[in-house]
Amino acid sequence: MNDPAQERTAVRRSLERSCAVAGLQWGDEGKGKIVDLLAEGHDAVVRYNGGANAGHTVVVEGRRVALHLVPCGVLRPGTLGVIGPGVVVDPEALVAEIDALQAAGLDPSGLRVSSAAPVVMPYHIDEDQVREGLLASRRAPDVLSADAEPIGTTRRGIGPAYAEKAHRASAVRMGDLTRPGLLRKKIELAADIKNRALAPMLDPPRAYDAEALIERALALGERLAPYVCETRSLLRGALAEGRTALFEGANGALLDIDHGGHPFVTSSSTTALGIGPGTGIPTRGLGRVVGVMKAYQTRVGAGPMPTELADATGDRIRERGQEFGTTTGRPRRCGWLDLVSARHGAELNDCDAIALTMLDVLAGFDELRVCVAYRLGGRETTRFPLDAADLSRAEPVYETLPGFAEEIAGVGSFDDLPRAAREYAEVIERFVGAPVEIVSVGPDRAQTIRRDAT
Ligand code: GDP
Ligand code: IMO
Ligand code: MG
Repeated sequence: MNDPAQERTAVRRSLERSCAVAGLQWGDEGKGKIVDLLAEGHDAVVRYNGGANAGHTVVVEGRRVALHLVPCGVLRPGTLGVIGPGVVVDPEALVAEIDALQAAGLDPSGLRVSSAAPVVMPYHIDEDQVREGLLASRRAPDVLSADAEPIGTTRRGIGPAYAEKAHRASAVRMGDLTRPGLLRKKIELAADIKNRALAPMLDPPRAYDAEALIERALALGERLAPYVCETRSLLRGALAEGRTALFEGANGALLDIDHGGHPFVTSSSTTALGIGPGTGIPTRGLGRVVGVMKAYQTRVGAGPMPTELADATGDRIRERGQEFGTTTGRPRRCGWLDLVSARHGAELNDCDAIALTMLDVLAGFDELRVCVAYRLGGRETTRFPLDAADLSRAEPVYETLPGFAEEIAGVGSFDDLPRAAREYAEVIERFVGAPVEIVSVGPDRAQTIRRDAT
């Protein structure tokens, strides 16, 4: 299409039929399942943020697939899977994931990775560990000090890779892995800097060998070359031809680098706000944003969580929900649903609809609690504080709702849910200000209630 005005109109029309799926909590809301479900109606599934810190689980006919970098939609034949320039890519992890998919009989040939995506290098993973260790060693034993507490990162090198991108000259990008001259320049510079600033802090201290790093990077580059391209134009071209995209958010709104509970956050824009910079596609006219939230709260890693239940009720939620990290295996902290933070997440994402997941996990509780305000500094507020120091002082104000005794994992329509389960969903809709259009009652594709044709 040569006429730029016509092209822009065509792209806008396709974006109107496109959608975004993003988490409204601290990650692990069940985005993988919802993306897999909604991918059916879209031609491309696009990751725009995060990296291998994400762990998205899809269950198809009893088979469980965990994806970290590869967009969930790739599991549907014929779907284009795009890893945009906003994602930090660990090529070792990506190769391992592609191998695992192929070994499982799945075909990742529809995957494309942006040549502009920053590469997570081995020294970024080391730095992640060193920084966490340093924070742990400085932790004051008797105070919750937001600036000297380990973040509890996934140790995948995410923060240091994004920092390197901001440093610029030493940042390796995916396209550089097949450009030996440029790669050498960047890695020699990076190794020099890391050998001065990071290597002495390693345990035991050791120097980075630029030659070995270059050799490995070139080998990975060769292996990944069929997948690497300029994804912005690819995606734009597809949209201009009338194809549609689903933008798959990683992590969760409360982990957003700018709008989450700093500093206990990740290092990228985790909401639909991040789609533009993370893909190069303007999203002003994006058709729909679906916010995914689980029926209770979980958090993995450190940082305040006002509704955390460090008791038998929390243990029961963890057991019923199998709340153990997809990426790290860590037990997730569990608690009652926090509607104050969910509303914050829905505002950031400008949600059109909610996909409510894990409602089945809440069966069997006599009563259910939802947090409808925070008591902070002697006052009640429904505003989510923007830093961890304030959030750690927030006391939850609860509304108590009736529980439901029946197991609901086999229920197929909203009207067949127990009345208390329906009311629970309706309280969420009213508080968050968006309709619950999807209710998930189990990990499988089939265990999904659709209230409209989303
Ligand atoms: P994501 O990071 O948001 O994609 O979520 P994860 O995959 O890390 O964690 C969600 C977990 O819950 C996975 O093991 C899913 O298979 C599972 N799951 C998804 N939806 C449901 C549901 O409605 N009920 C139950 N019981 N499990 C679910
Ligand atoms: P998905 O996409 C849950 C958390 C980490 C840690 C903080 C920073 O599966 O929902 P990082 O390694 O990103 O520097 O860690 O963010 N975190 C997640 N928690 N789900 C995720 O992704 C997460 N990605 C990062 O536990 O607290
Ligand atoms: Mg996850």
